[in-house]
Parts: sequence; structure tokens; C-alpha cells
Amino acid sequence: MSDRLKANLVLDKEYKIANIDERIYGSFIEHLGRAVYGGVYEPSHSEADDQGFRKDVMKLVRDLQVPIIRYPGGNFVSGYRWEDGVGPKEDRPRRTELAWRTIETNQIGTNEFFDWTKKVNSNIMMAVNLGTRGIDAARNFIEYCNLPGGTYWSDLRKSHGYNQPHNIKTWCLGNEMDGDWQVGQKTATEYGRIARETAKAMRLVDPTIELVACGSSGSGMPTFPEWEATVLDHTYNEVDYISLHQYYGNQENDPANYLAKNIDMDHFIKTVISTCDYIKAKHRSKKTINLSFDEWNVWYHSNDADKKIEPWSIAPPQLEDHYNFEDALLVGSMLITFLKHADRVKMACLAQLVNVIAPIMTENNGRSWKQTIYYPYMHASVFGRGVSLEPVLSSPKYDSKDYTDVPYVDCAAVYNEENEEVTLFIVNKHLEESISLSADIRSFEGYRLIEHIVLENDDLKAVNTPAEQVVAPHTNGDSKLENGHLEVNLSKTSWNVLRLKR
Ligand code: AHR
Repeated sequence: MSDRLKANLVLDKEYKIANIDERIYGSFIEHLGRAVYGGVYEPSHSEADDQGFRKDVMKLVRDLQVPIIRYPGGNFVSGYRWEDGVGPKEDRPRRTELAWRTIETNQIGTNEFFDWTKKVNSNIMMAVNLGTRGIDAARNFIEYCNLPGGTYWSDLRKSHGYNQPHNIKTWCLGNEMDGDWQVGQKTATEYGRIARETAKAMRLVDPTIELVACGSSGSGMPTFPEWEATVLDHTYNEVDYISLHQYYGNQENDPANYLAKNIDMDHFIKTVISTCDYIKAKHRSKKTINLSFDEWNVWYHSNDADKKIEPWSIAPPQLEDHYNFEDALLVGSMLITFLKHADRVKMACLAQLVNVIAPIMTENNGRSWKQTIYYPYMHASVFGRGVSLEPVLSSPKYDSKDYTDVPYVDCAAVYNEENEEVTLFIVNKHLEESISLSADIRSFEGYRLIEHIVLENDDLKAVNTPAEQVVAPHTNGDSKLENGHLEVNLSKTSWNVLRLKR
């Protein structure tokens, strides 16, 4: 017992990082694969409502309490004509969709998706096409969505049965414009100029909006972080956020290295913050640009299967990663990283939400089910509202192929003053051993431990299926709280949620 691995934590209600913007628990639905058609929308399904939306899927989404959903892409948006998706369904064109080489039927568009987000208690983060289109399409689109009426585009919306404006607040200026896979890829200067001019026109239509400029498609891009510096140099006064995208995988089947990858994410975030603040200083500006990490997840399981998909099919099973237990641990670790950066990461979107690299899966005309990654995402979203606290943590460490000094224990803490609740999110990354954590939480006088949720499994590769939730949390965690001292047994490779209440 005495030579067990030990970690120590001090948590104090005064060690505040920042208020958590609930939009860090956002997600993403792209017109891609079976996300919309067969996922969100399947009029022939026995669970379909009067608009063709699957009620079983809506329930799973509502349980996640997703505050904002990015739409309609992704790479898809760079070839999208938003006008194709509004008005009578029978008049909507079928188009070749170039990003994913499929057929888009346009049976779901802006208005239907708006209705769906309301049904799942969420909001849209809307992206405009800066690949094949530009200022004119974007200013018409925002007029269609946000003006009450009395103009051509707002009256067109009314004629489509939507009398009230959608009032969409958050808008993305294109998607991954640095990537050579993007239809209409641009250099940083080309993008910076069009993003600035589009932002100006959109704000002239609706001055209340918030705008997100495209950062790099990932920290591995050769133009990172010069891209961010150039884009922000052009757009600093016009935008509010810069985007970050990052996906990880365990292609080499090296779990110790894989579970350390949120260190890379942490480094990415710090570099983008520095770049934003460099341009702030250069512009002698008082304004601070915040971060929108609007695509993040594990993505690699489906890469080979995607190569075999027939082009020009409708809603094929693209990007259908089947997530295992170790993926859930990394997703939990990435959520911890966001919480530690709550002062600058104000939005983040788990990419994506249904069927496409998603926590929720469906069978066509069949069952819906929760992937392993559903659980840490749900726990963080439901219990992670309040103030992010700085956990002063000392943990044993390890070295892996790409990282040194990786703490076995990763932790974030959230204080919800109004509800008098404290939640600790903790990952033990040790592949073989449990770790004994001692936490000094004396500043939370009168608090008691109400729940210790654990997600664990002896098999890192265990997956859930429509028939069986092999990886699912239990509430039999081994912990106790006495006189302001919390003792927690963190079982090997586990995700833990400790909930305290006064
Ligand atoms: O989320 C899948 C794709 O990943 C998105 O369409 C794109 O933006 C990114 O490359």
C-alpha cells in the first residue's frame, strides 16, 4: 500500500482562472455523410417528428446540453449556396457537393436546421462561404436570417414561413481557408482581405453579431502560426475570435503517447494566444481576440473505410469513427485543457455531433446509441458550468515518444457559486496502476461529496455498439472527504468526475 503512486492537489475558491463560457461545450453538424440525412433527419424513421427529425437523436443531443452548434460546415460550406436550402422543398436543387464528392439534396437548409436547434435547446454558429463566394452572398444571407422584414431577403424568409428573424449571433468567416483541400483555398493575405471586407458588410447589416476568423486548420500546417498573424493583421478590428482546429489519432497504437496528446493541444492554444496578443500590441489595441476551438476530436478510425466510398452517393457512411475507451480518455483530457484555458478559449465545438466523428450514432431506420466519447463530453457539459479554478497539482510523470514530463494525473476544477457546487474532472493516464490523490479543499467549508462518477475499462480498445454499452460510467468511485481533505483512488486509465455540494 505504501509504495502506491501518489498525487497531491490544492484547490482554493480564490484561485480563479475565469468564468467558463458555456459555449466551450459546443458541437458541430456538417452536411457530410449521415450527419444530417440519416442522423438528424430521417422522415421515414418510426421516431420521426412532424418535420422528419428523429426524436431519439434529439433526446440524446438534449441530454448533452449543447449550447451552440456550428453549421453547415466544415469543408462543405466552401461550395455551398445557402439559397439552395430555403423555400419549398420540392423546388430545391440537387447539387454535386465537391468537398466530399457526394450529392446534396438540400432537403434540410437554414430554416429547418434553425428549428432543429431550438428543439434541442441550442443555437447556431453559422458559417458563410468564403471559398466559391464572398461579400455579396454573405450580406444577403445575414439579411435573410437576422433582419425583421421590409427588405428583399428578410421578406423572402417571411414568405418561407419564418415571420420572426432567426437572430443568429455567431458567424464564422469561411472554413479552413489555408488548406489545399478547401474549395477556394487562399493565401493568408487573400483570406485576410476578404474576411475583413465580408465582416464589415455583415456588421453593417447587423452590428450585434460576433465574428470568427479562420485560423490554421491545425498546428501541423506549414503556415502556422504566420497565417494567424497575417490574418489578424488584416482583420483585428473587425473580428472577435480566431478559430483553431485539431484532431488526434492513435495510428501507432502507442496508448501512453496518445493519451499525452492534449499537451500538444495546450501548446497550440498558448501559441495562438501569443500570436493574438502580438498583433494586439502591434495595433496598439485595447481589444483582445479570444479563441474559438471550433473543431476538435479524435479522428482516424474511419480513414481507410472512407477511401472505399463511391463518389456521388447520397449520405454515405463517411467519417464514421467507432470510438474506443482510450479515445474517451483523450476526449476527457482535451476538455480539461479547455477548462484550464477558460480565460481565452470562449467557444469550442466537438466535431461532430451525429454519425460523423460523433458521440451519437444511428442506424438508418434503426437504433441510436452513445459512443464512448459521449460520456466525458456530457459530464463536462452538464457539470462544468461556473468558474474554472486553477488546480495546484503535483503528479508523478512519464516520458512518451513525443512528450516528456507528462503528468499521469490531469485535472480541472469548476466552482458553481450559485448552486454551491464544485466539480473535479480527473484523468489517470497510467496504463497499469491506480493513483492515490490527496486533495486539500479546506476553502470549501461545509461541502460534502455527493458523487464520484468513474468511466473505466480493462480494455483500452473496448467500444460501444447499438446492442451494448460496454463502456459506460458507474457511480461507485472510491473516495472520501473528511475535514476538508479529499482522498481519491484513481483507478488505472480512468475518467473521474467528483461532485461536491454544500
Ligand atoms: O470535421 C470534418 C472536417 O474536418 C471538416 O469539414 C473540416 O473543416 C475539417 O478538415
